[in-house]
Amino acid sequence: MVTVVFGAGGNVGRNVAAGLSSAGEKVRLTSRKPLPTGFPPGAEVVTADLESPETLPAVLDGAQRVFLYAKPEGIDGFVTAAESAGVQHVVLLSSGSVLHPDAAHNPIARSHIAVESALENSGLAWTFIRPGMFATNTLWWWRDSIRDESTVRVPYPDAQTAPIHEKDLAALAVTAFTRPGHRGRAYPVWGPESLSIRQQVRHIGAAVGREITLEPISVEQARVELGKTMPPIGIDAILAAWQAGTIAPPQVSTVVADVTGRPAHTFAQWAEDHANDFR
Ligand SMILES: NC(=O)c1ccc[n+]([C@@H]2O[C@H](COP(=O)([O-])OP(=O)(O)OC[C@H]3O[C@@H](n4cnc5c(N)ncnc54)[C@H](OP(=O)(O)O)[C@@H]3O)[C@@H](O)[C@H]2O)c1
Repeated sequence: MVTVVFGAGGNVGRNVAAGLSSAGEKVRLTSRKPLPTGFPPGAEVVTADLESPETLPAVLDGAQRVFLYAKPEGIDGFVTAAESAGVQHVVLLSSGSVLHPDAAHNPIARSHIAVESALENSGLAWTFIRPGMFATNTLWWWRDSIRDESTVRVPYPDAQTAPIHEKDLAALAVTAFTRPGHRGRAYPVWGPESLSIRQQVRHIGAAVGREITLEPISVEQARVELGKTMPPIGIDAILAAWQAGTIAPPQVSTVVADVTGRPAHTFAQWAEDHANDFR
């Protein structure tokens, strides 16, 4: 059985590919770049762009399963190509934002809803993974200032969030593919523990082996800082999540342990795994 892993160089896609391979499954890895870096030697790598449907039939030929990133612009073309190729099961990396009360007015939620709806209305079996905040976001926000100045600047240092390790999202996808009972299921997933930003920075400092200073800044300054690495749509989402985390602790979940049978990674473990990224 062949599984096409779209975005196999991405944070989650890379771990889905590794998890399936180590379970003895055949994988076909995609990238939009003709010569992607960082893919395992000997892997079957193909060029494909979910927003260019004409690239998809060749990639999906002979495949039964697909790990998919949400790209609403190309989803109709994807569904047509996947149905024609005889794909049986799609695991979509969606977003917990689809569950927000204001999802219909939130552009991030709307793009994921569009892809979920297209799959629900197709003849394909699907599983949706709907994560909250990724731990990898801290690389966007703080990597440079930790590397260069051993400092993190944030507007809400005591805001609580529940970051998720990308390996746990990948483990959910691998389990959904390889064990029965996950078709037609949607899994909202948050991290296993609620931690303040102060505590998260302390874990990163412990992993890196040096003290990191936390410098409170205004929301306006934070917009400028975040704007160095993030699009405006993401900045609004993260500032709103941090502000909410000052009022009430975030949701945490046990879904990783419930579905995979293994406990979710803690943020301290994530920081250990990524210590070199901050050095
Ligand atoms: N960050 C969060 O807190 C959060 C929370 C909930 C949901 N999400 C969702 O999770 C996803 C991001 O996951 P991630 O961190 O694993 O992403 P990532 O590391 O940025 O990787 C994205 C992958 O998608 C591939 N890709 C992008 N556009 C593509 C296209 N048009 N056709 C085919 N492949 C394409 C890229 O591959 P190439 O460049 O090699 O082509 C890349 O490997 C997003 O959909 C986001 O909405 C994120």
